Amino acid sequence: METVTTIAAVRERVRGWRREGRRVAFVPTMGNLHAGHVSLIEAARRRGERFVASIFVNPMQFGPNEDFAHYPRTPREDERMLAAAGCNLMFMPEVNEIYPHGPERATRVEVPALSRMLEGEFRPGHFEGVSTVVAKLFHIVEPDVAVFGEKDFQQLTIIRRMVAELCMPVEIVAAPTVRDADGLAMSSRNQYLTADERALAPQIYAALQAAAKRVRSGDADFAGIERAGLLALESAGFRPDYFAVRQAADLGAPAPAARELVVLAAARLGKARLIDNVQVSRS
Ligand code: PAF
Repeated sequence: METVTTIAAVRERVRGWRREGRRVAFVPTMGNLHAGHVSLIEAARRRGERFVASIFVNPMQFGPNEDFAHYPRTPREDERMLAAAGCNLMFMPEVNEIYPHGPERATRVEVPALSRMLEGEFRPGHFEGVSTVVAKLFHIVEPDVAVFGEKDFQQLTIIRRMVAELCMPVEIVAAPTVRDADGLAMSSRNQYLTADERALAPQIYAALQAAAKRVRSGDADFAGIERAGLLALESAGFRPDYFAVRQAADLGAPAPAARELVVLAAARLGKARLIDNVQVSRS
């Protein structure tokens, strides 16, 4: 695996592969890789012939009081894991390579229909940062296919919409959430949990599963299901931001005929803010 830090170097390598007729798969990340990221690389390997991963802690998607400065950065370990997972090219740019005029003054991409609800309500500007950097990375890497985790379900939905509305020739593939044995979704931010908090953390998945079970069984009292979810999280010691039942396709309130739904939650536990979701089909 080769590691490069410039846009020009990525373009040169990828265009070379394209001239050879290779299908290029891409996994954007913020590094501090864990088994969840490795599953994204494996999904990419099933869909392409050359694999690119980016490691970039994107300042534009962090709010002023968020953890940009402290976000875990483990580039050498990430490099080792990517090489072992069969990645061909790792792109690890500095901030000024991506935002030469600074992130504050950069051209932006937003998907307003989806980015201001749920996470967007509690993290204003977050998804504008995500869609902007992903659009830039797509223009830099020019992949045929890109893989995103279902763990960040709203992010995945926004990227799909951005790609469709901006006519980007990239296939978006969703990879299932990877969980620890007790159900906690893997996340770099789990390391902010103390041992006691870590023991409580799987309750978020348990609350989502309980809600999904009610939805699956035909219960359409979504407001009641959401209230029960918030209460379950509060009783377990979380400070929930939201617990919501939505349509999977567009994150709107469920229409009576909607079959594919998703239950999403975000909650604080100590210094960590956990997000998770469970998709559910109604018959
Ligand atoms: O999911 C992430 O790690 C980030 O939001 C992404 C997609 C790499 C953009 O910075």
